[in-house]
Amino acid sequence: MRTAHLTLRPDATIGPINPRIYGSFVEHLGRAVYDGIYEPGHPTADCDGFRTDVIELVKELGVSAIRYPGGNFVSGFRWEDSVGPRESRPRRLDLAWHSTETNEIGLHEFSTWLEKVGSELMLAVNLGTRGTAEALELLEYANLRAGSALADQRIADGRTTPFDVRMWCLGNEMDGPWQIGHRSADDYGKLAARTGRAMKQFDPGLELVACGSSSSAMPTFGEWERVVLTHAYDVVDYISCHAYYEDTGDRATFLASGVDMDRFIRTVVATADHVKDVRGSQRTVNISFDEWNIWYNTRFENVDRIEGVDNWPRAPRLLEDVYTVTDAVVFGSLLITLLRHADRVTSASLAQLVNVIAPIMTEPGGPAWRQTTFFPFAATSAHARGTALDVAVRTDTYPTATLGDVPLVDAVGSHDEAAGTYSVHAVNRSTDEQVQLRIDVSALGPHPMTVQARVLADPDPSAANTLADPDRVGLRALAVVRDGDELVITLPPIAWVQVLVETGR
Ligand code: AHR
Repeated sequence: MRTAHLTLRPDATIGPINPRIYGSFVEHLGRAVYDGIYEPGHPTADCDGFRTDVIELVKELGVSAIRYPGGNFVSGFRWEDSVGPRESRPRRLDLAWHSTETNEIGLHEFSTWLEKVGSELMLAVNLGTRGTAEALELLEYANLRAGSALADQRIADGRTTPFDVRMWCLGNEMDGPWQIGHRSADDYGKLAARTGRAMKQFDPGLELVACGSSSSAMPTFGEWERVVLTHAYDVVDYISCHAYYEDTGDRATFLASGVDMDRFIRTVVATADHVKDVRGSQRTVNISFDEWNIWYNTRFENVDRIEGVDNWPRAPRLLEDVYTVTDAVVFGSLLITLLRHADRVTSASLAQLVNVIAPIMTEPGGPAWRQTTFFPFAATSAHARGTALDVAVRTDTYPTATLGDVPLVDAVGSHDEAAGTYSVHAVNRSTDEQVQLRIDVSALGPHPMTVQARVLADPDPSAANTLADPDRVGLRALAVVRDGDELVITLPPIAWVQVLVETGR
């Protein structure tokens, strides 16, 4: 059997883990909102029409900030359509997803839902069809206590206290030709800078996110970040990254998606720091990895895309990917990569949350269930807290077609000082071989330890949870053997594992 070695050392710190790294994303897309979180006729619906079974699952998932309302949707969105009396809100065409937006759910209703799930609102403004003026109007409506026409309108609309939104995205994926109002880096950089500057004239304490590349495969990747930040460096706090991965048949490369994400992050950090140094700035711009997931995008492009001048469905079934065990292992490895960059990735959003490329699925009038990807997210969010640790992985490598030789095992550690606990999250990328994982814990001192491990793996790596079989896949306990200063665990092929160490101090 192959062996991989890790070392858990409290002084091998990467940086503090910002709880916002466990964020998610709800877009007005498909059945994310309507027939997802909101279904007034459902047996579990509360007085506001929100499904309480979904609320419970979102709480269990452990998501911090939730990005809203898009995504591509936001680039055609008129925020004022979605506030005020519901009966007079207009139905609008959503060109991004070729659907009808009824505006039954808007800022007020979504904020009510966020209070129920205990998450923070992260709001995106439309810099596609709109600009600085409308962004400022939304900001004033949302965040001013009282005393202006817009703040008083919010109060009249039923909300006395401001929404006090701290984090704002300046548009969405403005580098993508598919984006409504798509711009060059130069044009977008200037727009983001002047919009952000104006927003900070209202409140210098806001945290602003400039759009980075919509993927590292974009032809403008790198140069886009450099140009945008050259315009907006002094104004923004974050540059965004977006990355989706899918198994296109080359499983070895798919399993190594975290390696690609790792390079993406390193490149964006290097570019942001280059602009910082050129400008002689004292500020550091961090990364908001505000869209990441597995997404079978080719299926959407070839099968699901909606067309037709007279065909604008409400809440169609779109992007409803069913995730396998393999998908969940790759997904878990993406979380490992994000945590390994906790010093610079200080916000991230799993895209998305319910029904749309989601860890939580629902059936109208029926049950809600956890997809395979639910488990690594919930377990990591619950336990990788405090400080991220470099565990100095020593492992064999394997060859891939596009990423070269990549580590067979990847891992990251964490240390929650207040609780006296450590975690290790690791993946075995081998499709056919077990790996013995040996974790050196000598640096944790002579304290007594309680150790538990849980694994996501299956003899059938294409197993999934579905409406017909919602509990097919879950986490199961894995044996841990103590061998001197080492904890020894046997990882099955294609496996994600969580090891928790309690030192009792
Ligand atoms: O999450 C689905 C879509 O992916 C988002 O709307 C867009 O920002 C990205 O391309």
